[in-house]
Amino acid sequence: MTTIKKPLRSAKSYGPKDKDGFIHRSWMKSQGFPADVFDGRPVIGICNTWSELTPCNAGLRDIAEHVKRGVWEAGGLPLEFPAMSLGETQMRPTAMLFRNLLAMEVEESIRGNPIDAVVLLGGCDKTTPGQVMGAASVDLPTMVVSSGPMLNGKFRGRDIGSGTDVWKFSEAVRAHKMSLDDFMAAESGMSRTPGTCMTMGSASTMACLMEVMGLALPFNATAPAVDARRRRIAQETGRLIVSMARDDIRLSTILTRQAFENAIRVLAAIGGSTNAVLHLLAIAGRLNIPLELADFDRLSVDVPLLVDLQPSGRFLMEDLHYAGGLPAVLKELTPLLHLDCKTVWGQSIGDSFAGAECYNHEVVRPLAEPVNPVSGIWVLSGNLCPNGAVMKPSAASNALFKHRGRAVVFESIEDLRARIDDPQLDVDENSVLVLKGCGPQGYPGMPEVGNMPLPRKLLERGVRDMLRISDARMSGTAFGTVVLHVAPEANAGGPLALVRDGDEILFDGPERRLELLVSPEELALRASTWRKTKPPPAYSRGYYRLYVEHVMQADRGCDLDFLTGSSGSTVDRESH
Ligand code: FES
Repeated sequence: MTTIKKPLRSAKSYGPKDKDGFIHRSWMKSQGFPADVFDGRPVIGICNTWSELTPCNAGLRDIAEHVKRGVWEAGGLPLEFPAMSLGETQMRPTAMLFRNLLAMEVEESIRGNPIDAVVLLGGCDKTTPGQVMGAASVDLPTMVVSSGPMLNGKFRGRDIGSGTDVWKFSEAVRAHKMSLDDFMAAESGMSRTPGTCMTMGSASTMACLMEVMGLALPFNATAPAVDARRRRIAQETGRLIVSMARDDIRLSTILTRQAFENAIRVLAAIGGSTNAVLHLLAIAGRLNIPLELADFDRLSVDVPLLVDLQPSGRFLMEDLHYAGGLPAVLKELTPLLHLDCKTVWGQSIGDSFAGAECYNHEVVRPLAEPVNPVSGIWVLSGNLCPNGAVMKPSAASNALFKHRGRAVVFESIEDLRARIDDPQLDVDENSVLVLKGCGPQGYPGMPEVGNMPLPRKLLERGVRDMLRISDARMSGTAFGTVVLHVAPEANAGGPLALVRDGDEILFDGPERRLELLVSPEELALRASTWRKTKPPPAYSRGYYRLYVEHVMQADRGCDLDFLTGSSGSTVDRESH
């Protein structure tokens, strides 16, 4: 029996010596638990997104066992439960469509069950934010253990990075610079261990943000999935979550406004994914923390790129771990962080990295000698994006930071795929590729197609980047001068819907402007004849329908409108 500061919520189910207590305990005993595990010890839920359909999370079954070791060791009762797993590379039409469904499942699984605290096991892009969103709306003591990144990919004696090199190889094949045989050989060498993409994609970005926000232990973001240190982190997490349950340290005391501000600054320093913008906005919305799209630009404008990782740089997550992991990055960022933010391990975030060391300044640069002085997230405004749009300048071409060109418009991703390689396509390197119909409602689910392929005839002439604009997202592993998340999206009647071939577009990154150079009168005329596209029948029922009818635009994080905020952890009524 352990010392508890306040009554645990599990005591309501497992404490009473009556009919209800009998029912709650007796069926649990069918799993072989002896009577004394229901002695009032903290019950720790382990929310696992392990799945063979999410290969990035394939190691989490083993990680769960190590969390359980720590929970038992600290006098708690670990109970693992599954949650919908979202395999980024497997799900159609896009895993993002289901992030909010995972969040709903996690929220109700935590609230409905007699658990006192929860450890979230996730990794692949949407699993971490979906789990944290759900947990935030219940607000129990919560910790995160991530899958961890894969070891570096290998091809012909050199390192290759998940996603980032896929885009490069794919364009090289289209430009006849790489053979199909080599392309297939690279496929086998890229993903050679369990774990998440080992570039600074969305999964690694969110794992880094969980670490700086104090929800996951130091080195959780970077220790490779197959490294024994990840298992140690899991066991230590198991120990800690029991004391958090005893002390009733809620998620909302860790995820404060200042913790979000630290996360936004780290997002810039690591060259993290634009997807994190959506996820942080959605998580903040669950906690009623006022966070706006403009905060991402304001808070990252003076943060340079410190981490030389693909897609903004050269190295991979394994290299970052050996260079000192995220603590080495945080130490460099000391003057720019709120150092007194709380963590789940009890120290302030500042104290936790005060002794960190960097072992490779090629991978983690000093603040005074950054990889790139320009980083972070540019938040654009102008008549083409009344509610904003984003760009990741560290992954873009400086030569296109100011650009004016004619639009070449694609009404849908299918339209783009059908015409992009047409030799007759009226396009040159100064054109601006515009893609519609890929927003949260319109696709639905906002796919990662914003880094649209360049026309083959331009690739063959050596063109490697163009200004591209869409209401889509982009994989965190991708790169290019790409304006994303245009809001409102075309399908919601945003001005993006009104762009036509040949219209002039002005982009000024340093001034954060994105303008469609068409007169207001002409735009009003076009708007008067514009009609919203109805979703195809396949998207008209079930969860799709709920999503399309309630999803908020990108500037609000794409959560469902009725899911913002919290309902707490109290459930008054019994089931029998
Ligand atoms: Fe799962 Fe990249 S596809 S982490």
